[in-house]
Amino acid sequence: MSLKIAPSLLSADFACLGEEVRAVDKAGADYIHIDVMDGHFVPNITIGPDVVKALRPHSQKIFDVHLMIEPCDPYLEHFATAGADIITIHPEAGSHYHRSLHAIKAMGKKAGLALNPATPIDVLDHVMDVVDLVLVMTVNPGFGGQSFIPLMDKISAIREKIAQTGREIDLEVDGGITPETAKTVVKAGANVLVAGSATFKGGSSHYASNIKALRGE
Ligand code: DX5
Ligand code: ZN
Repeated sequence: MSLKIAPSLLSADFACLGEEVRAVDKAGADYIHIDVMDGHFVPNITIGPDVVKALRPHSQKIFDVHLMIEPCDPYLEHFATAGADIITIHPEAGSHYHRSLHAIKAMGKKAGLALNPATPIDVLDHVMDVVDLVLVMTVNPGFGGQSFIPLMDKISAIREKIAQTGREIDLEVDGGITPETAKTVVKAGANVLVAGSATFKGGSSHYASNIKALRGE
């Protein structure tokens, strides 16, 4: 599986998001990672489905929507129709995440499950047949620019679980990814790297070289 880079729009200039999406698309992003926060599940508020819809015409790349909202169920359809390609939820954000993951698939979208640093990998046990992506948080969700929590054993244990299914499931890591930490998580088995600060630092003339550096090039 080739390495994919998913710039997190949380570190983009919110005053010109469309332009920022076009710029990271052109700079070589594989996925556009969109962090949705509700000020309840996490201590920050970001963007909603209308913003996702407004951004949709700006890029053909995969829209990787990370929902940090509780409850998530009432909003799944809104994000699906707004143009999300992957919808990722947290198991703590609803009592029935098996049902939520199936609901996402029934809308024709890819379903992801995100694990906070302290969330055990057992939450994956009965949903490995439905998930298309597992997101390992290497910071506690809520903000960009936090320091990386080294959870390499967790990442490699999930990579093993994925291998046992024989299915193609992305293993995405989110939080504190830099060219240095990228190497360690890729070695542990990650194939998608979310990067906010590390992609957007220095302004748009640096996006392509920042993304290359994350790929280890
Ligand atoms: C954190 C978000 C991340 C965040 C990562 O709650 O899920 O996607 O934007 O930011 P960096 O890459 O700056 O740690
Ligand atoms: Zn995220």
